[in-house]
Amino acid sequence: MNVAPYENIPLVKGLPLIGNLLTYLRDPLAEVQSLALHGNVVRSRTFFEHVTLLGPDANQFVLHDREGNFSSRGGWAYFIDAVFPGAIMAMDDPQHKHHRRIMQSAFKRSAMERYVQDMGPVIAGVLDRWPEDNGRPMRVFPQIKALTLNIAARVFMGMTLGPEADRMNQAFVDTVAASMALLRKPLPPLTMWRGVRARRYLVRVMQSKLTEKRAKEGPDLFSQLCHAHGEDGERFSDDEVVNHMIFLMMAAHDTTTSALTTMFYCLARHPEWQDRLRQDAQALPETQLRYQDLAGCERTEWVMKEALRMYPPLTAIPREAARDCEFGGFRIPKGTQVGISPIHTHHMPSLWTTPEDFDPERFSPARAEHRQHAYAYLPFGGGAHLCIGQHFADMEVKSVMHQVLRRFRFKVPEGYRMPYQLVPIAKPRDGLPISLQRL
Ligand code: HEM
Repeated sequence: MNVAPYENIPLVKGLPLIGNLLTYLRDPLAEVQSLALHGNVVRSRTFFEHVTLLGPDANQFVLHDREGNFSSRGGWAYFIDAVFPGAIMAMDDPQHKHHRRIMQSAFKRSAMERYVQDMGPVIAGVLDRWPEDNGRPMRVFPQIKALTLNIAARVFMGMTLGPEADRMNQAFVDTVAASMALLRKPLPPLTMWRGVRARRYLVRVMQSKLTEKRAKEGPDLFSQLCHAHGEDGERFSDDEVVNHMIFLMMAAHDTTTSALTTMFYCLARHPEWQDRLRQDAQALPETQLRYQDLAGCERTEWVMKEALRMYPPLTAIPREAARDCEFGGFRIPKGTQVGISPIHTHHMPSLWTTPEDFDPERFSPARAEHRQHAYAYLPFGGGAHLCIGQHFADMEVKSVMHQVLRRFRFKVPEGYRMPYQLVPIAKPRDGLPISLQRL
């Protein structure tokens, strides 16, 4: 087959200088669907030019990547180096393989069983304090953010959050905001400056706990990372533990908050599904979910999958071409910024029955729409950088939902539609006001 030169890839110009940035920020799904009208390989600009590769084959080509065509470092470094230096997501092999092998041992089954056991009482304590419905809806997003931060403090760091909770929450908000900042200099009062300042605070918090965590192996993830070792006994240095802890907490916190919030929204709009999940939760023997109960949460898993299909917390995944390669009949030269779009694939009518509809049963064994292609469904990415916290997120979401459903019924007003922003991580613009009724 003839391979067309890079210049022949359709170019969607957008506005001078900023290109398609504003339309992308406003509605990334609509933006990428409009790019798709030009084919599955499209050039566009958001300050700098990049190529979007669309569809499940493109996802596989970029993420499966046995030939080493793409660099994750080249894709992510611009966004995260200033605030998350040493992040595993911005590493390439052989460094990535080395770090991933060690980090993996903090996610072994025995550790996961402890994590789920430890999060139960934290969830119960936070839900005890959720306000009774007094006719005024509760904004659920900030409540869930506080809940997941409390879980992370206990399960990741082995601590109970006190007055520093707000500061830590803000530090993660500021670092994530800095990763997307348009002006990249860390000068006051710019977003990047706030992000770098927040990073320094998080480093101080982690460093102050290092000696204690190194001294004795405990059940929390911090301690597990301090004592984690690869097959040949290799371990993380102090700086590496600190960098990984900060990145892991960020990667876990915002994404899981996003997933739980969109599940709340979907279940509030679809009370019949809320009732089904509540029946399943009530059928389990304990008020707090145990590791062995996870298999009994099948329908919760379908709903989680459906919420992540419709609103994937990471709508796009960036890479840089590490060498010349070709896709869809076009040459992609080394150094090209390349992006794939999970949210676009998740809404392709060729893969999903009425993709705009909330329909959790599409994930049931009988229908299994997500199994049509290995890269049709990718909220957790795929290939070497596949989310290391996928099972952790699954446990956390199920643990929270289990307790929420046994305690509350919740709803949104008839006709309500959640206004959401999808970048950098999907969240409701209005905090998602819901009416909560204690059972
Ligand atoms: C619903 C929740 C979550 C979603 C949707 C999600 C999504 C993702 C995605 C799409 C990637 C791949 C990025 C890429 O290929 O460039 C990723 C990587 C990663 N995630 Fe998650 N994530 C979630 C929860 C978590 C949790 C709970 C943790 C930690 C406990 C975590 C830790 C990580 C790490 C460390 C990486 C980088 C892995 C590597 O580069 O080898 N994530 N996540």
